[in-house]
Amino acid sequence: MNRARNTLVVPRRVCHRGPAMARLDPHSYADDTQPRTKSFDWQASVDFPGRVLHAEITLHFEEPAAGGPLDLDTRALSIDAVLDANGAPLEHTLHTADPILGSRLEISVPSGARSVHIRYRTSPEASALQWLTPEQTLGKQHPYLFSQCQAIHARSVIPCQDTPSIRQTFTASLDVPSQLRAVMAAAPRAREERGDRAVERFEMPQPIPPYLVALAVGDLASKELSPRSRVWAEPAQLEAAAWEFEQVEDHVRAAEALFGPYDWERFDLLVMPPSFPYGGMENPRLTFLTPSLLAGDRSLVNVLAHELAHSWTGNLVTNANAEHFWLNEGFTVFAERRILEALEGPEMAGLHAAVGHQKLQQAFAQHAERPELTKLRTHLAGIDPDDAFSVVPYEKGYFFLKALEAAAGREAFDTLLSRWLGAHRFGAVTTDDFLALVERESPGLLAKVDAKAWIDAPGLPRAFRKPDSARLGAVLELAGRVPAANETEGWSVAEWVLYLDAMPRPSPLTVCEELDKAYALTNAKNPEVLVSWLTLACESGYAAVLPRVEAVLGQTGRMKYLKPLYRALAGRAATKPLAQSLFAKLHGQYHPIAQQVVRSVLK
Ligand code: BES
Ligand code: ZN
Repeated sequence: MNRARNTLVVPRRVCHRGPAMARLDPHSYADDTQPRTKSFDWQASVDFPGRVLHAEITLHFEEPAAGGPLDLDTRALSIDAVLDANGAPLEHTLHTADPILGSRLEISVPSGARSVHIRYRTSPEASALQWLTPEQTLGKQHPYLFSQCQAIHARSVIPCQDTPSIRQTFTASLDVPSQLRAVMAAAPRAREERGDRAVERFEMPQPIPPYLVALAVGDLASKELSPRSRVWAEPAQLEAAAWEFEQVEDHVRAAEALFGPYDWERFDLLVMPPSFPYGGMENPRLTFLTPSLLAGDRSLVNVLAHELAHSWTGNLVTNANAEHFWLNEGFTVFAERRILEALEGPEMAGLHAAVGHQKLQQAFAQHAERPELTKLRTHLAGIDPDDAFSVVPYEKGYFFLKALEAAAGREAFDTLLSRWLGAHRFGAVTTDDFLALVERESPGLLAKVDAKAWIDAPGLPRAFRKPDSARLGAVLELAGRVPAANETEGWSVAEWVLYLDAMPRPSPLTVCEELDKAYALTNAKNPEVLVSWLTLACESGYAAVLPRVEAVLGQTGRMKYLKPLYRALAGRAATKPLAQSLFAKLHGQYHPIAQQVVRSVLK
């Protein structure tokens, strides 16, 4: 059941749209008095030269319509026709675009209708899509297309009720150049070659929120990793990818031990082009991963564990809207670190938590002017979820769950977690749903950890104790000076990041120089270490790293790396013009979401 239907009512006076309408989600025009989409059939022809999808969709309703308006979310779509099941045109209006929500497509649905059909085209600027030229790919021979729909970009690809509170099954077919493969976060059903084109068919039998619709088209090859996992990549990267993620089945088993059987049949991986804006995206059956994880030492597989964990927390039990995003990400970080604990031991999991705590403190500092965004439950009407994005729901959510676990005991908390998953499988959840479940299962537990402060107050509750361990202490003791070689022996990536992030800003140029000389950090292979170092160096005005910074900004589109580097450059008068000119030169390489986010960092 979906509590959001009752609790997230937009105040009547801001609606102007009839007496009883109720928005389900501050980021969607979907209205709970209107027909709900149960499933859709989508067909798209991929036009690389035009950077357009020529598409048709049939939306099937849960129940025959009562007759009246149907509001769909769209962004930058050209609507060619809206038809009923017999092919007769339906009256419709495409309203003026809202800068955050896009354009409401209002369709007059006759009473008794069970579906509507829409013919349309996407824009070359579709916010979910990145169209890469052959030169921007590894192989240099073929173009590449991929999508990133979370949080509210599905509407730039398909007209739909783009809210996670309306789960939908679908079928899809993609018509692509026959030299290319199309993959989707769905079960592949068939490939039919037709001369120089091929049609690939897919089906998603489990209902999903629209933000989990995902596709990629390119020169892709795959390799089996286990009976239920294969990895897809451009051919030149396939072997490296297969090596890095070889242990995927161990991850799935560890996750199943924690959460119960894996419900999505396959757990395949797709290594994305470097411009992929995230570390990973939990698209069901086919997780998307940044190629920056291919460090050659499996040191970044926590991202794989994270996306896998979303198969339960996020994809099975889904935040009802972006205001409860911590229910997706906080739970998933918790699960990620439990998987890591099972595979690499509690010490490593603890170091990851310590890095998380450090990044959380940085986020609090960056949000000093908007502390309300550091609450777990946020109010996002009028705020673009991409602008609100930070590590807060991840790490504060994680520490809240750790506090509950500590107060309840691990066993009791594990039981509580299975109840949560069991109660809301294939559902959409709000913060109140979680609080109600905890109070029911474990009366008094919320009060014991001061849950109110965690959920609705900014920052961390006063009683919070930050993570501690001998290894962490040894690292933090070194901050402010250049460690000797024997002091950094055996350091993991996490320890390097902890040390670098703990260094004073600015640090003296002599310290930067010595550090770089001793540890060749500017040539670090690991992107986490490299970006932590380059950020410190830029914030310290250590100009010797600038060519390397420029190279990194030109090679990756992962926002976790772009944001701190652009911010560091823009934060000093001496490098601010460089930040502007680099972005002017490089923005065309970035995904539309990353372009927008970096633009706001530079503002
Ligand atoms: N679902 C997120 C990525 C995302 C969040 C996309 C919000 C769009 C809007 C994904 O699971 C994620 O959290 N990725 C992290 C992984 C990390 C926390 C291990 C990332 O990209 O760095
Ligand atoms: Zn996540």
